[in-house]
Amino acid sequence: MSGCFVTFEGGEGSGKSTQLERLAGRLRARGLDPLVTREPGGTPLAEGIRELLLDPARRPPPMAEALLMEAARADLVANVIRPALGSGRIVLCDRYDDSTLAYQGGGRGLPAELLRTLNRAATDGLKPDLTLLFDLDPAAGLARRARTAASVNRLDREPEAFHARVRARYLELAAAEPRRFAVLDGALPPDRLEALVWSALEPRLAALGVRGAV
Ligand code: TYD
Repeated sequence: MSGCFVTFEGGEGSGKSTQLERLAGRLRARGLDPLVTREPGGTPLAEGIRELLLDPARRPPPMAEALLMEAARADLVANVIRPALGSGRIVLCDRYDDSTLAYQGGGRGLPAELLRTLNRAATDGLKPDLTLLFDLDPAAGLARRARTAASVNRLDREPEAFHARVRARYLELAAAEPRRFAVLDGALPPDRLEALVWSALEPRLAALGVRGAV
């Protein structure tokens, strides 16, 4: 069995991390053992890169930012995600390569084709079975983030226009691959979102033959 790879995408404060935790809890309650990870991060090397990337004291040029994201990704995919999928597990990843297309592409303006090439190299072509996009007006997301997050990271501090470009690029990506993406309204109450997440995932798990899921 080849597992099931689910990624969570969206802007700041879109509720994706809360929903990831809820989904992991649901799967565990069904006797499944999902692997939960995040980007950038998820391995000692990638967590080190994460600290460098999110440090508000630094100002890397966009290409350095992109390459560090890809370096972290290559380590996570090779050492964590592929082995877990290979042993038939469900992998839930908080952000993946669509984040690079949205943030470094849409947000920073790096060429999409170059980023796609880097993504392919870093992931060795591994694509998610399902990508949940939590779509939310950036002003609402940033306000939510400012209320709840312990710390505001370097990318959170970008101007609203940056976050608007990120959102627009995400929606373009979802429109281009409607079978992989489920676009969810991040303004909905958490319980309602949880139900929508489950209805997007359940048929995929059934199709992949993941035991205990349905
Ligand atoms: P994090 O605190 O995990 O934010 P969030 O809770 O919104 O996921 O920080 C991750 C930040 O890194 C987030 O601002 C998005 C950014 N990022 C990129 O710019 N490119 C990428 O490829 C990835 C994976 C993340």
